[in-house]
Amino acid sequence: MSIFPKKLQKKLETRIQNNALRSLSVSTSKRVDFYSNDYLGFARDENLQLLSQEIIGQQDIVLGATGSRLLSGNSRFYHQVENQIAAFHSQSKALLFNSGYNANIGFFSSVPQRGDIVLYDEYIHASIRDGLQMSLAKSYKFSHNSLEEIKEKVIRFQEAHQGEIYVITESVFSMDGDSPDLKAFANFCFDNGVHLVVDEAHALGAFGYFGEGLVSSLELQDKVFAQIVTFGKGLGCHGAAILGSEDLYTYLVNFARSLIYTTALPPHAVATISAGYQMLRKQHSIYTNQSQLLENIKYFKKKQFLLQLEQKFIKSDSAIHCCIVSGNDKVKQVAHKIQQAGYEVKPIMSPTVPLGQERLRFCLHSYNTKEEIEGVLKLLGTLL
Ligand SMILES: Cc1ncc(COP(=O)(O)O)c(C=O)c1O
Repeated sequence: MSIFPKKLQKKLETRIQNNALRSLSVSTSKRVDFYSNDYLGFARDENLQLLSQEIIGQQDIVLGATGSRLLSGNSRFYHQVENQIAAFHSQSKALLFNSGYNANIGFFSSVPQRGDIVLYDEYIHASIRDGLQMSLAKSYKFSHNSLEEIKEKVIRFQEAHQGEIYVITESVFSMDGDSPDLKAFANFCFDNGVHLVVDEAHALGAFGYFGEGLVSSLELQDKVFAQIVTFGKGLGCHGAAILGSEDLYTYLVNFARSLIYTTALPPHAVATISAGYQMLRKQHSIYTNQSQLLENIKYFKKKQFLLQLEQKFIKSDSAIHCCIVSGNDKVKQVAHKIQQAGYEVKPIMSPTVPLGQERLRFCLHSYNTKEEIEGVLKLLGTLL
């Protein structure tokens, strides 16, 4: 066996010293789920499974796409589902990608050009950062959710540069659960000829009358250059789509390498996405997974307040609620005690989040009970 390179060994040792070594763990006991992104319970929903099977039953090929969308991996079915997604979000076009990671890599590596400026939120998702690293445009971060800083930077860059300016944010931040003032962002960008791009990974299913996310529910489609929706969270399955204009669709088909040089999503995955969107369409009635999720979010916040834990949590109206517990050692210890009591809650450690900002991340779901919410928060209160 060849010897493991010394430099790599050293990097692993540093991780161990910082108590930050990642490993792939399997939850052995049946703990209460406060950690998955299955906000609406779709990943375990039999109706979704049946609907997906019914849709896939109508296709010739079921298992593999057999090639890139640009070669053998395309069919009318993919276009039908893209049209379904675009219509749901009231957008001109939707382009499917194999995952949110792939969508962000494809978009950010190909859209901003040399001479362009990209302004991104300091807490933006790693997939966006990775995409930007592959771009020839210059990127600068702005303080979390700070429109003031965007304004100041846009004015400065517009005076000094000819290129396009892109502003990148998330409608719900994955490690914080909070949101920018999207309306104000969109209005400013639109009025100043700046292209706003919004990652809606954690908003789909949770926000909006049908769970359509924040851009569509605030009717900002015309002011947003591109919207990224991912299906591994609220939709309970896998894949992603980039939403935007007809021109953007054509551009990405031609230049997004993570779309061109990969086998397309398998047809059964596309069928599940289609079924997921059909399920979302039914989410507006009085008693649905979405209304249960929203009720649980409200209850979690109420209990946080009553137990005087509010100050420790990052302010959030989404399904993600984070309690700051500084230090990798401390956050791991608290998480371990909560897990031993039967609740699956994950510590989020540095370097995933900034040093000193380590946190416990609670993901809420339609299927959590009030007793579970009260139980975990009461326990948390005794551990801080
Ligand atoms: C904000 C955000 N964007 C993109 C992604 C990537 O999505 P996917 O899991 O579909 O690759 C994630 C998931 O972690 C995310 O939180």
